[in-house]
Amino acid sequence: MSAVVVVGAQWGDEGKGKVVDLYAPYADLVVRYAGGANAGHTLVVGGEKQILHLIPSGILHEQTRCIVGQGTVIDPAVFLQEIETLNERGVGTEGRLLVSQRAHVVLPHHKLIDGLREKKSGGAIGTTKRGIGPCYEDKVARRGVRIGDLLDADRLRAKLDANLECWRPVAEDLGGTLPSTDEIVTQYTELGEALRGYIGDAGSIIRASIKADEKILLEGAQGTMLDIDNGTYPFVTSSNAVAGGACAGAGIGPTHIRSAIGIAKAYTTRVGGGPFPTELQDETGQKLRDAGAEYGSTTGRPRRCGWLDLVALRHAVAVNGLNELAITKLDVLSVLPKLEVCVAYELDGERLAFPPYERIEEAQPIYETLEGWSDDLTACRTRGDLPPAAQQYLGRIEQEVGCRVGVVSVGPDREDTADLRDPFRG
Ligand code: IMP
Repeated sequence: MSAVVVVGAQWGDEGKGKVVDLYAPYADLVVRYAGGANAGHTLVVGGEKQILHLIPSGILHEQTRCIVGQGTVIDPAVFLQEIETLNERGVGTEGRLLVSQRAHVVLPHHKLIDGLREKKSGGAIGTTKRGIGPCYEDKVARRGVRIGDLLDADRLRAKLDANLECWRPVAEDLGGTLPSTDEIVTQYTELGEALRGYIGDAGSIIRASIKADEKILLEGAQGTMLDIDNGTYPFVTSSNAVAGGACAGAGIGPTHIRSAIGIAKAYTTRVGGGPFPTELQDETGQKLRDAGAEYGSTTGRPRRCGWLDLVALRHAVAVNGLNELAITKLDVLSVLPKLEVCVAYELDGERLAFPPYERIEEAQPIYETLEGWSDDLTACRTRGDLPPAAQQYLGRIEQEVGCRVGVVSVGPDREDTADLRDPFRG
């Protein structure tokens, strides 16, 4: 069994980009399996900051190949732009990057309608306005356009005619005007041609890689609490972000997955609307936002910040079947003298160990107070190097959620990492 899943264990933005970047040198293949350009990983490429929304951060490691799988939704212009920027900065993509012909295409009207709906609702869900929801709606309604269709103008035209017909009344109701089939065919066949060399049968290649006993890292997007089935519905994204989504999203069977590693920040953040029981709308929340630079990499929005929610994390361990947790941004907590962790919720006088499926916004967090530390952690390379209070913090997480902590990130740079080890061993 050669595949390891890396999944967000909270509401996204857990630092998956950094962890995938650390694990990529151990992998032959990195596969992104869900979501679209709503995600964002900030990387430093050729000395300059670069945000990748679709291409896995593994692309920075020369010997690693990257695939964007069939479970994703692709904005071809964003994908092409990322390729061009990487190439300009000396990162080669030819022969190392592939997008599944089955991945669905984010069309101009998906973005238009996503934006208009957000406006109409006063930003109730607070989507990234990248067209993700409407694109997945088309996929499930069986009227979507797939990446492979961009290479056949006649097929694309026929699919678009039917697709636009369905959206027309929705757009009119929202006060928007849809583009014409001709406009989209012209623009998207051009994009298809530019991407031709990158489009292929990704599933077959991943399965062949498994047969050849190669090591595969399956990279999720967003996080467990934003998963369409396991998250805080309806305040979620439109795909299966959880580890289970990796099989359908990459086109492989569950028998090939050896382990699932959950990435969790040492505190909690959330972008957009929806319940967040441990949110801190005070000075402490602002301190976390400032110390952790908690502003969205895709939308620039300030992230909502709060204490570590072990109820949500326990849920993530359970629904992803996690073998291990990677804890990120532990260093950020050095700014706070005392730390609270939420060990349970209280709802209707009952103590809950797991999130209820509804009315999470009414749940009251039950906190346990832990000692803080003020030391600079960035030079720590093993758990033993951490101050005792930080070690106890990690120990408490393990006890409460029933999952061991492996890698601990203690700063933004690659080197600022404790207990890094090969995820394909042991
Ligand atoms: P959508 O995925 O753009 O439809 O947005 C749905 C919800 O998921 C909103 O609350 C977004 O803020 C949230 N979301 C989507 N992608 C991310 C991400 O990469 N990090 C954090 N939140 C996200």
